[in-house]
Amino acid sequence: MAAPTAAKEHLYKILVIGEFGVGKTSVIRRYTEGVFSPNYKLTIGVDFALKTVNWDDSTKINLQLWDIAGHERFGQMTRVYYKYAIAAIIVFDLTRPATFESVLKWLNDVHSKVMLANQEPVPVVLLANKCDMENATVDSRVLSQFCQSNNIVNWFETSAKNNINIV
Ligand code: GTP
Ligand code: MG
Repeated sequence: MAAPTAAKEHLYKILVIGEFGVGKTSVIRRYTEGVFSPNYKLTIGVDFALKTVNWDDSTKINLQLWDIAGHERFGQMTRVYYKYAIAAIIVFDLTRPATFESVLKWLNDVHSKVMLANQEPVPVVLLANKCDMENATVDSRVLSQFCQSNNIVNWFETSAKNNINIV
């Protein structure tokens, strides 16, 4: 009789970054706990959340999500927080264009402070959050072009509130 093969487990550290109030904590809570709160409670420093994904019968992936405070006054610590991350999610708020303008700042921050073990840049995904809001405007062409020019893997329109594109 063949011996049962042991399930493989992986732990991946993923950063969630972007300006304050864009919905980083809300997206993470929706993804890990399935809930949404309309109240804003700013993140102080950094928070953590874990999500286990059963990739296949023999592979388990533990995603360790690092919810980094967006407020400038916590910015000095990011080099420490970014260490050993293998990917980053940059979130902006579709109703506040200034938060999109800050995406490049966060992109530079992450690329200047962390790299993969093979010296390649960490892959980055962009979330255009709060797409449920009436004044949310998405220009797909602009966003696709922006991702292409800045080596961002892809972008997704999301709503933590209405659970759009979070899973
Ligand atoms: P910092 O921790 O300060 O960096 O902010 P954050 O990016 O973690 O933002 P947070 O998740 O705390 O959300 C800020 C506010 O936006 C809260 O009042 C949320 O309820 C609201 N919010 C977050 N996501 C959505 C969304 O998809 N739609 C709507 N309508 N509101 C959202
Ligand atoms: Mg937060």
